[in-house]
Amino acid sequence: VIASVRIRAADLNDVDHLAAVHHATVITAYAGMFPADCPPPTPDALRREWESDFSDPTLKAFVAEYDGGTVGTVAIRSDPEHPVLGELRRLHVLPRHWGKGIGAALEGAGVTALQKAGYMEAGIWVLEQNARARTFYERLGWCLVPGEILTLPGLDVLEVRYRKSVHGGTDRPGEVMPTQ
Ligand SMILES: CC(C)(COP(=O)(O)OP(=O)(O)OC[C@H]1O[C@@H](n2cnc3c(N)ncnc32)[C@H](O)[C@@H]1OP(=O)(O)O)[C@@H](O)C(=O)NCCC(=O)NCCS
Repeated sequence: VIASVRIRAADLNDVDHLAAVHHATVITAYAGMFPADCPPPTPDALRREWESDFSDPTLKAFVAEYDGGTVGTVAIRSDPEHPVLGELRRLHVLPRHWGKGIGAALEGAGVTALQKAGYMEAGIWVLEQNARARTFYERLGWCLVPGEILTLPGLDVLEVRYRKSVHGGTDRPGEVMPTQ
C-alpha cells in the first residue's frame, strides 16, 4: 500500500464520511449491475444504513485516509444468519484511488479485527456481476461457497458468498501448542 495511507477505526461521528465514500464508490462501481429503473441510493439513505449498522454492538468500522480525505471504508460484524461467523462488509475505495493497494490494506484491517474479535471464519456477500471485487477477494484467499446465493429483495440481482478462515493459528480449540 502507498505509504501515506492511514487506516483508523471509525465511529458514529464518521457516518458522513462513510456515507460519502459509499455513495461515490457504488454509483460508479455498480453502474450497469442494477436494472436501469432502479434508482441509485442517496447519500442520506446510505448515512441511515451506516447509523443502523452502528447500532449493532458487534460492528467495527474502519476508514482509510489519504491526502487529507477519507478514501475507503470497511466494516466487520457478527453474521446475522450465523452469529458464530464473522462478516466483512462495506469494503469501498473511491474509484480514483483504485489499484494503489488501499483495498487490500482495508481487507487486512478487517481480517485482523475479525481475528481479534475471536471469529474463526468470516463470510462476505458480493454482487455476482462484480468481477473486479470477486477477483480481488479470490487473490486475497477468499473462497466461493458453492450454492450460497442471495437474490436482492425485489430485484433480479444476485449476490454470491465467499468465505475465509481467519483464525490466528494459535487458538484453535483442541490444538495443543508445541512446548519448547
Ligand atoms: C474491490 C475494491 C475494494 C478493490 O480496491 P483497490 O483499492 O482497488 O484494491 P487494491 O489496490 O488493493 O488491489 C486492486 C489492484 O491493485 C493492485 N495493487 C495492489 N497494491 C498495489 C500497489 N501498491 N501499487 C499498485 N497496484 C497495486 C492489485 O494487484 C490489484 O491489481 P489488479 O486489479 O490489476 O489485479 C475496489 O475496486 C472497490 O471499492 N470496488 C467497488 C466496491 C466493491 O465492489 N466492493 C466490494 C463489495 S463486496
